Amino acid sequence: MDESIIITFANQKGGVGKTTLCVTFANFLVKKGLPVIVVDCDSQESLAQRRESDLKRYGSEEVEIPYEVLPFSLNKEEALFNFIGNIRKTRCVAIFDSPGNLKQQGLVTLFANSDYIICPYHYDRTTIPSTATFIAFIQNLKKAMGRKMTAELILVPNRHDARVGTKTERELWDETGKTFSRYGLVTPRISMKADMERFCTLSDLDGQLEITQEAYDLIYNKIFGHLEIETNNG
Ligand SMILES: Nc1ncnc2c1ncn2[C@@H]1O[C@H](COP(=O)(O)OP(=O)(O)OP(=O)(O)O)[C@@H](O)[C@H]1O
Ligand SMILES: [Mg+2]
Repeated sequence: MDESIIITFANQKGGVGKTTLCVTFANFLVKKGLPVIVVDCDSQESLAQRRESDLKRYGSEEVEIPYEVLPFSLNKEEALFNFIGNIRKTRCVAIFDSPGNLKQQGLVTLFANSDYIICPYHYDRTTIPSTATFIAFIQNLKKAMGRKMTAELILVPNRHDARVGTKTERELWDETGKTFSRYGLVTPRISMKADMERFCTLSDLDGQLEITQEAYDLIYNKIFGHLEIETNNG
């Protein structure tokens, strides 16, 4: 890995699992031996505070800190440019959690400078159109930016509950997956499970690896499969 890789979790739709997948994916990459930092750009939900409380709960002396969690405000565009510039030099995987509001200042800059935009979504009547709008937004941004924007989209169907939906709805969802796959990699579905309702910024919790593995393995291969990686695992 010659340069850092910037991965942003985003979707304009709230509650799709951006933060949950951001943290569990960071935990997954650390297990793979990659140097990771998590950047929390969502002022509403502080992952930095979350790290503090995780340390209190699990005892700060006993646990090894797997990655730094940095709060970062997107409001100052110039600071964001500098921040991304500095990250680029550090040879790490920087994972950004973003707020679900496309009007948020700096978000476009973050998208334009990301290598991958990972977009969780789930199958319901409001989330699908909203996610389609988000995909179109990214497509238009790429068109407008030309070669300056190289971010690739990865779409993650999350919170999947096989018991929900009529036959027609389920067929429609399968079609949606096919349509979305024209715009980026669509991963296997991550199930709706109680084990995913919580997360920890120090390591994955019971069951989480199994629930996310297929999706995360595919994302890992997509992003890192062709790179020569020096891992922390030696
Ligand atoms: N696979 C899953 N199974 C069960 N619950 C999940 C799963 N993924 C996320 N959740 C739950 O869904 C809710 C929304 O998740 P999360 O906060 O990660 O979404 P978000 O996109 O970051 O939301 P926001 O837009 O508010 O930042 C949370 O209560 C979380 O615990
Ligand atoms: Mg969030």
